[in-house]
Amino acid sequence: MDHVVVTLDGPAGVGKSTMAKGLSEALGIPYLDTGAMFRGVAWRLGRNAWEWDADRLARALEEIRFDLHGSGADSGLSLNGEPLGAEIRTEEVGMWASHVAKLPVIRDFLKAAQRAVGERSSLVAEGRDMGSVVFPNALMKFFLDADPEERARRRYEQLRAMGREADLEALTKSIRARDEQDRNRAVAPLRAASDAVVVDTTRLSEEVVAATLLETVRQRM
Ligand code: C5P
Repeated sequence: MDHVVVTLDGPAGVGKSTMAKGLSEALGIPYLDTGAMFRGVAWRLGRNAWEWDADRLARALEEIRFDLHGSGADSGLSLNGEPLGAEIRTEEVGMWASHVAKLPVIRDFLKAAQRAVGERSSLVAEGRDMGSVVFPNALMKFFLDADPEERARRRYEQLRAMGREADLEALTKSIRARDEQDRNRAVAPLRAASDAVVVDTTRLSEEVVAATLLETVRQRM
C-alpha cells in the first residue's frame, strides 16, 4: 500500500502540534513538524539570514540535513544529527522562521526534504502549506483555525504551565504579525487547500477537536 499522508495546516498557536502528535500516536505513524524545519534553518543560519544573497543562502543550505526518527509522540527531527530542542521554540526564532519562510530558495529546499520523508514513510505532516503545496495528493487534509486572541491565550497558558514568563499582549501582537506575514507572502501563503476540511477551534475543547479529526481520518482510511 502507498504511504498514507495526513496534512494539518493552520496559523500560529492554533494547536496543530498537539493535534498532529495525537493523530500520529492514534494512527501509529510518524509526525513531521515542518515548522520545526523552518525554525531549525532560521536558527542555524542566524539573525538577518533573510537578507543574504541567493548564492550565500544556497551554499549554507547545502550544509543542512534533516532526519526524522521515531513514531507517534516520540517522533523527532534532527538537524545534522543533533536533535532539535527548546532552542528553536522561542517567539524570536519563530519570527526569524517566518522571515526565511518567505524566500523561495528556502521553501524549495524544505519542500524537497519534506517530500523525501513522505516517500519513505506514512506521515502526519503539520505546517502552513502541507495540503496546498507539499502533499497535494494527501489522503486527508485538515485546516485548523481560531481567532488570534484565543490563539494568544492558549500560548500564554501553555507558557505559564511550563513555568515560563509570558505577556499576553505581546503574544497577541506577535501572533498577529506572524499571521500577516504568513498569509500575505508571495510564495505558498497560508491558506486552506480547496479540498481541506476546515475546523474552527475557537470555541472547541482540545478533546473535541482531537476526536473529530481522528473520526474523520478513520472514515477515509
Ligand atoms: O509552526 P511554527 O510556528 O513552528 O512555524 C514557524 C514559522 O515557519 C511560521 O510562522 C511560518 O512562517 C513558517 N512555516 C511555513 N511553512 C510551513 C511551516 C512553517 O512557512 N509548512
